[in-house]
Amino acid sequence: MKSHTIKFMPSGREAICKAGHTLLDCARDNGIAVSSVCGGKGKCRSCKVRIEKGVLTAPTSNELKRLSNSELERGWRLSCQAKPAGDLVVYIPAGNSLTSTPAFKEELIVKIIPDAGGRRPRKGYGVAIDLGTTKIAGYLVNLCDGSILSKHAMANPQDVYGDDVISRVTYAMSPPANAKRLEKSATGAIDDMMLFLSAGAGCQPVAIAKVAICGNTAMHHLVLGLPVDQLARAPYLPWVKDAVNISAKELGLKSAPGADVYFLPNIGGYVGGDHVAVLAATGALNIKVPTLIVDIGTNTEISLADAGNITSVSCASGPAFEGGHIKHGIKASPGAIDKIIIRDGKVKYRTIGGGRPEGICGSGMLDAVAQMVDNGIIDSSGRMDKGHPLIHTQAGQSAILIAGRDRSVDGEDIVITQGDIRELQLAKAAIRTGIDVLLKSADIAAPDVKRIIIAGTFGNYIDIKSAIRVGMLPDLPARRFSQVGNAAGAGTEDFDRYCPQPWDIKLQQPMHDREALHGNW
Ligand code: FES
Repeated sequence: MKSHTIKFMPSGREAICKAGHTLLDCARDNGIAVSSVCGGKGKCRSCKVRIEKGVLTAPTSNELKRLSNSELERGWRLSCQAKPAGDLVVYIPAGNSLTSTPAFKEELIVKIIPDAGGRRPRKGYGVAIDLGTTKIAGYLVNLCDGSILSKHAMANPQDVYGDDVISRVTYAMSPPANAKRLEKSATGAIDDMMLFLSAGAGCQPVAIAKVAICGNTAMHHLVLGLPVDQLARAPYLPWVKDAVNISAKELGLKSAPGADVYFLPNIGGYVGGDHVAVLAATGALNIKVPTLIVDIGTNTEISLADAGNITSVSCASGPAFEGGHIKHGIKASPGAIDKIIIRDGKVKYRTIGGGRPEGICGSGMLDAVAQMVDNGIIDSSGRMDKGHPLIHTQAGQSAILIAGRDRSVDGEDIVITQGDIRELQLAKAAIRTGIDVLLKSADIAAPDVKRIIIAGTFGNYIDIKSAIRVGMLPDLPARRFSQVGNAAGAGTEDFDRYCPQPWDIKLQQPMHDREALHGNW
């Protein structure tokens, strides 16, 4: 066997694929982001790519199971399975690539930089970073007056090792080099972020004096090089809960080695510093009436805030809202169907960007299921009515056609199957269960909840009516809901109240003594 040259389109980047490696291995080795929801096990279709030129090894049994004959004939392969048999040109569709830049929501930019806002004016710049599982958002702040000088968003390059935290934790667990790879990938991204931010503001990155980072507990542990095995088994304990102060140099940052880095504290194994930031951003401690704060993601964190008390729960809502485990699911990106209406026996849809459809993103799936309930196409248990004129059978299961092959980008019918409905039910049921558990434990009836704050990028785009219709959210008047976007993307002025002296919070063990930290757990 020998290595081969792979040209990835549409970027045109070329990479060497080592002998015996899959296309996904090659992409990962070269920092080319291809979605891999199942972590490369051949169980989803998120890593699907089209071979434009060249020859590969024969399709594996997983590919024969996950791809239709017509897809295989037209060159579609699963990159986690397919191995090159020569030089190749490979097309990565937008929905399976992770290079798009998510939009910011200006009004929710929050300052987790301690001392920003002029409370204790300092010289220099600070950087606030929301280290998300999928994307990373950053802000460069003038420490003298708290003003935001530049901002940037990028895909988390760790995504090439798995789309969700469980895939990445599993990857990190063996062999040891894997964890190091994830750590380097995250610190490299933080360095890139600081370079982008400083270039955007016309300053030198070495002038960055403070960096504040929030992330879920797994992201926090992976970038700090802490053990993650315990996050994968009950009772899912974090290795470190306290806020962490560490020097940029020790963290391995090269762009601003003199900076101090502050990580927000974690609440638990699956309620991390990103949710702490959401709670700070929404002023949770000052909320006087029963309020639910729901941060929807692959892992959804929910808090019930009421008169100074906050109770939190996390639920594994899974990747369905990001297109994972859905036959034609893709992330919200140009070409994704994000809105679906079924009226007069016809399915109508809208795509992001208005172009031809490539797949269906989470908000589209939510709409589709709500519309199918309204139109009697599925019953209250989620079962599709096989006798309904819009339902047909495909590969042994019921399905509804959303966009025909004459319209779709890859010439394939875009459908929602019975299996997809079940995946969405699992996701929405996880969220609703979390809400119900919180309310029950506080002895509060759903109608007594005065406000529901929906955070997270996906949460910002869902149709609340659809979410209520499918039972994901309690049936409350629309005025009680607010969608606040990426609230974790920053802290607020309120963060100081939540955590009065953030820079003074110390780890019980100094971070440079990581072995001692591990041993004393
Ligand atoms: S099928 Fe390839 S990553 Fe899931």
